[in-house]
Amino acid sequence: MNNNPIGVYDSGFGGLSVWRELHRALPDESLIYLGDGKNCPYGSLPAAQIRSLAETAVGDLVQRGCKMVVVACNTATAAAISHLRERFPEIPIVGLEPAVKPACRMTKSRIVGVIATERSLQGEKFLTTLARYGEGVEVIKAVGRGWVEAVENNEEQSERTEQLVREVVEPIIERGADVIVLGCTHYPFLRNVIERVIGNREVAVIDSGEAVEKRVESLLDEYGIRASAGCEPRMEFITYADEEYRNRLERKAMSSL
Ligand code: DGL
Repeated sequence: MNNNPIGVYDSGFGGLSVWRELHRALPDESLIYLGDGKNCPYGSLPAAQIRSLAETAVGDLVQRGCKMVVVACNTATAAAISHLRERFPEIPIVGLEPAVKPACRMTKSRIVGVIATERSLQGEKFLTTLARYGEGVEVIKAVGRGWVEAVENNEEQSERTEQLVREVVEPIIERGADVIVLGCTHYPFLRNVIERVIGNREVAVIDSGEAVEKRVESLLDEYGIRASAGCEPRMEFITYADEEYRNRLERKAMSSL
């Protein structure tokens, strides 16, 4: 048993799509959510810069006593996960990867779309997973241009956002994809818009939220660090941006439940 918090880290609001899965499935666990906010978006930053931002963030969460950290950001995972595990060997660190493996198993048309940030699509682990499970599957890679900003600005429902989503999703469907992978934790906040664009076409949309939650549960058991039942969990939200951003973060978290 260990009642210390689990740290959840992202460049901004996106990791809340993972935070809400953890909050739902693990109601006894205290969670500290760190949404950088100051340096968001990470998507096109050089890998070395993302590594250094991620090291500072995870270091802060470790300092606050986190017993585990979830890097709820595909981009930071792609750029920094091995470095973080080497740097902080004292706690388990969970990373996020686009759900390529289930997508390649699910597809009937043998065409899959993966939408992520530029940096994630260049990630070594992503490319090896693709080589391993993507045999005989055409994988269309696309960047969700402007999508992260739309979520950060709470503009999920605007016409401009629908246009940005359409520009990326439409060509993927036209090429014949029947599965679309959301490879960035911000994108599940656009799921309604994405589904509206898909309309009545048979295209499944998948993300990594549930798989990560399962991974966290199995690590809690493996390390014997689950919180004790009924221990009154704490919910904390922190950022490197200002108080206004922190308040928006907390409001978005609460309204996402
Ligand atoms: N939410 C992040 C991800 O999963 C980062 C997006 C960004 O900051 O560009 O990739």
